[in-house]
Amino acid sequence: MKPFRFVDFAQFFVVKSDIITNKELISVFGKIAAAIAVATTGMIVRDNVRLTVTRYTEKFEKLPESFNGFTIVHASDLHNQQFGENQSKLIEAVKSEKPDMIAVTGDLFHTEHRGRAYRFIERAAKIAPCYYVSGNHEQRFADYFRNIKPRLQALGAVVLDDERVTLSRNGENITVIGLADPSFKRTVPPEHLTEDKLSKLTSDLDGFTILLSHRPELLRVYARHNISLALAGHAHGGQIRFRKRGLFAVHQGWFPKYTEGIVVEKNTKMLISRGLGNSTYYPKINNPPELAVIKMYKL
Ligand SMILES: [Fe+2]
Repeated sequence: MKPFRFVDFAQFFVVKSDIITNKELISVFGKIAAAIAVATTGMIVRDNVRLTVTRYTEKFEKLPESFNGFTIVHASDLHNQQFGENQSKLIEAVKSEKPDMIAVTGDLFHTEHRGRAYRFIERAAKIAPCYYVSGNHEQRFADYFRNIKPRLQALGAVVLDDERVTLSRNGENITVIGLADPSFKRTVPPEHLTEDKLSKLTSDLDGFTILLSHRPELLRVYARHNISLALAGHAHGGQIRFRKRGLFAVHQGWFPKYTEGIVVEKNTKMLISRGLGNSTYYPKINNPPELAVIKMYKL
């Protein structure tokens, strides 16, 4: 068998003469590099708009029997991204999971073009009770309290910024707690602020608790308050992913610890969504938009 030589391979593309010149060789390299660049760009672009659904099944000791099989669709960091006309692809994906609750954990908005985010909330709230907390991007809107929050409530969302609600089934209860993003009060370090808020919101609770909070890096605070399940986003999967690790996340830095999936601290499990949208000019790589779904069972 004839041994492989690159010049033979290159001549396959050029073909015109028996002897390949330097100029022709450079031309072949150029064409191959251009083809790889086009294919890679296409893959990255597609990867940034391809909606994926990640499903988790978790068992919890404190979960009341009546909530066995309770399903939460967790949508984080939409950043005004659109999935189909009027968010139809995203809504279909949410609906097909038959959720008992939809959790929207911040950075729903990005720029002044708010229609896509509102449309998602309006349609999602018709599928299941939809609970929302703010992210750091919401803090950037001067009219958040005046316009955005009341509009979300009018569209059917329950805004849980530093609030809690009780869900009941057959006389059994669970509590859903929400935290506004710490960026709304920059004068207090996020850990202290969260500690203080959770002390007030959980002081009289002993049962199963779900926490909606944009920030995954505060897991140790959530665990100190015995949160059963925390839902967070913010890290965008670390933007660029290598195998199971992300490259960078705001408030965590390089090679962040909390970027996706289920992580455990003491009695607290936290589900981190890689998010649906993007907030930077450079793309996510190996990190497509994610809708996370968790089904809970009694241990
Ligand atoms: Fe975000």
